[in-house]
Amino acid sequence: MTHTDETTSWSLETQLIHGGICKPPAASAGLPTVHPIYASTTYVHNSAHALDQAFNGITPTGEQAYVYARQGNPNSYALEDALKQAERGVGALAFGSGMAAIHTALTAAGLTTGTKVLASQDLYGPSIGLLRKVFEPTGVTIVLADLCNERVSSLIENEQPDVIYLETLSNPLVKVADLDKISAAARAVGAVTVVDSTFTTPYLLRPIEHGIDLVVHSATKYIGGHGDSNGGIVISASNALLNQARTYATMFGAMLSPFESHLMLRGLRTLALRMERQCQNAMQVAYFLQKHSAVERVHYPGLTQHPHHALATTLLKSEHFGGLLSFELKEQTREAAYRFMDRLELCLPATTLGDVFSLVSYPPMSSHRSLSQRERQQMGITEGCIRLSVGIEQVEDIIRDLDQALQ
Ligand SMILES: Cc1ncc(COP(=O)(O)O)c(C=O)c1O
Repeated sequence: MTHTDETTSWSLETQLIHGGICKPPAASAGLPTVHPIYASTTYVHNSAHALDQAFNGITPTGEQAYVYARQGNPNSYALEDALKQAERGVGALAFGSGMAAIHTALTAAGLTTGTKVLASQDLYGPSIGLLRKVFEPTGVTIVLADLCNERVSSLIENEQPDVIYLETLSNPLVKVADLDKISAAARAVGAVTVVDSTFTTPYLLRPIEHGIDLVVHSATKYIGGHGDSNGGIVISASNALLNQARTYATMFGAMLSPFESHLMLRGLRTLALRMERQCQNAMQVAYFLQKHSAVERVHYPGLTQHPHHALATTLLKSEHFGGLLSFELKEQTREAAYRFMDRLELCLPATTLGDVFSLVSYPPMSSHRSLSQRERQQMGITEGCIRLSVGIEQVEDIIRDLDQALQ
């Protein structure tokens, strides 16, 4: 390969095109502590033979090799490697969004014509949309049920699903799924388990340690953490599922770009600090809201009254119950919810969660918008329900803002 050699015999026009093409720095020149952003769609190798080998993803010396950025690039690989280790999986894949990660994970899990998925009724709205609009028309049977229920094992035995799909903590009522029970029942019927762990992150819970097959995250949330990049991750407990997912991911082409991968990896470095603070703040906010005269009920697994408090205590990191909670206004109307949101001065009324800023959303307007009021009521989501993703601000400021908006 001659591209990086001195090429002074080329014309000026050609030199302008080929000059400055990447030469890996020699160790003696000093290596950067942070991965450079590899804004390259393709990779040149030393020989045609080496390029041929790189198509298998490996160099002759056994290192990770790159050919074309959609199939992998050093920045995504660095992020995947960090999350593989954090989640205790065998490998990970980075995607352009959480939805792209979920689509690939469910396809890799085997959802196809003639198969059945048992999914949580409390899934994030567009995830239910994905099942209904993308998988159901291909002949997949969809059963939605409460998977945070005591009787989840017998439900799995009765339904005999091929795939089970749920979230670790439900949205917006923060119900807790018993992953050990679910994975044991799934193994007994030969079902593949897919768990969305966006709300818990590997800092609070590692589903693979509880027998789950595929873990997905909307990295847009806590992993990125700063509200400036969209991404998704799939982590696999087995090489067979990882290879399936990689094959589909490459074909679907929903990969994370090198630049976004860089941002996600930067976010990941402060995940533990942010989660620590967010869990502490959320607990304080839950205590405050619980006593407020304008609040009917608070849903937060850190409160002893929460129906899954005991399970949360054994499943999640000790004394950490997540940064997300919801509460119901005494005045159970949309008007009261809008009035509350409009009066906020610090907490941002915006549709996402897991950022460093506190964020408020109204599920009937956002995540559960496509459901009727009756369907929402059946799920326990009232017209006065507000979701709060607690940020890393001083907790006194968050509480002061909530208090003045609730008056
Ligand atoms: C639990 C959960 N999973 C998946 C998603 C989808 O992620 P993204 O918006 O990155 O596609 C979201 C988005 O809010 C979510 O809350």
